Amino acid sequence: MAKKQTIFVCQNCGAKAPKELGRCPACGEWGTYVEEVIEKSTGGKLLKVTAPPQTPIRIQDVISTEEIRIDTCSNELNRVLGGGLVPGSLVLIGGEPGIGKSTLVLQVVLQIQGIKTLYISGEESVKQIKLRAERLKQTDNNCYVVSETSLERIFEHIQSTQPNLVIIDSIQTIASEAVESSAGSLSQVRECAAQLLKFAKESNIPFFIIGHINKEGSIAGPKILEHIVDTVLQFEGDQNHMYRILRSIKNRFGSTSELGIFEMRQNGLREVSNPSELLLSQNHQGLSGIAIASAVEGIRPFLIEVQALVSSAAYGTPQRSSTGFDLRRLNMLLAVLEKRAGFKLMQKDVFLNIAGGLRVNDPAIDLAVLASVLSSSLDIPIDHDICMTGEIGLSGEIRPVNRIEQRIAEAQKLGFKRIIIPRYSSETPLKSSKIEITQVQKVEEAFRILFKK
Ligand code: TYD
Ligand code: MG
Repeated sequence: MAKKQTIFVCQNCGAKAPKELGRCPACGEWGTYVEEVIEKSTGGKLLKVTAPPQTPIRIQDVISTEEIRIDTCSNELNRVLGGGLVPGSLVLIGGEPGIGKSTLVLQVVLQIQGIKTLYISGEESVKQIKLRAERLKQTDNNCYVVSETSLERIFEHIQSTQPNLVIIDSIQTIASEAVESSAGSLSQVRECAAQLLKFAKESNIPFFIIGHINKEGSIAGPKILEHIVDTVLQFEGDQNHMYRILRSIKNRFGSTSELGIFEMRQNGLREVSNPSELLLSQNHQGLSGIAIASAVEGIRPFLIEVQALVSSAAYGTPQRSSTGFDLRRLNMLLAVLEKRAGFKLMQKDVFLNIAGGLRVNDPAIDLAVLASVLSSSLDIPIDHDICMTGEIGLSGEIRPVNRIEQRIAEAQKLGFKRIIIPRYSSETPLKSSKIEITQVQKVEEAFRILFKK
């Protein structure tokens, strides 16, 4: 028998080498080379697309039809997808093991109305899936399950079942016969994803594909998978917190700034449609180091609690630690505080935490971050009915933020009496009798209001 030919493939970028390399010359990653058997000659053939030749036409002449989207019966998921699931699309759901990916998709297929779904699991037996479904206490209509790892047989199952939606749990456990390397290797993942994409586009069946995340936080077989699929959703959260966040990283059919919030319960995931109420701890009156920010993720405003602890550093180099907020940005803000407001934090440890285990990218929470640090440092609590929003520039100026009306409206809805916002060149963006709107231009002004100096 002829000796099998093997090649070493970088699991990060797909570069090939005849021998194992410590560092990939193409992407610079260390220790990513894995030996793989060279693909059988039949491998490439399956991927050839024989599309009829097309002639270019003017864009005005292209007939656009109203896009039909499938309602997933989950408001949070629909929004993250950009208004529902597009037929024929490939949606990758990535996340760490145990975060709840299987639970999320199983719940979706059990909830979804009026369409036939096929749940293919390469990780669990049908009995295990049934147990989980019982735990979710949802009795379904039209959901078929099968435990399968061969891509070819998966296609057979799809052909015989004729579903309108297919779930693959997970891409790392399925393998195509066209490639000889083991399931989960880069060439298998790439081959399977490419074949699934071709199948989805031809049959117009949408797919949810689950993908595991490696320890660096990217989806295993990373960039390659992200380029192939239409939508990449990341399911994240802290194992110790019950909140789970579904974030859109790439979306050919919608915005990527959307966010879905869920809560992991004993009987499955519950949608959190009003995040503000959950993210604010109820009783913080009289406690220092807490500031409430009116933030926006995607198009949704919500109020979050920023907590800070400032204490004397025990050792020479003070500690700076931050959960849910960019540490470099925190350092920058602390430097602004020192320079502009004259607070000496050089000998202090600073710990910052966004309540609820949420990671926030909105720069408008800057003001609340500094206010909470200052509140802890001075040990003066901020009035519990004040909230704030504003991005801070390097010279201590408070810069205007987007969607200011929505931020004010959300604060008003939750019963805040006063909101501090950046000064706008035009007149007050929203006049309201219920909430007092204070415009500030510099951090010093905001601090004077908050700490009444
Ligand atoms: P799972 O969906 O299996 O995670 P993944 O597919 O991302 O690896 O979720 C597993 C975790 O969720 C497990 O630790 C138990 C928890 N869980 C609940 O708390 N409640 C539930 O109803 C279910 C089904 C799971
Ligand atoms: Mg799973």
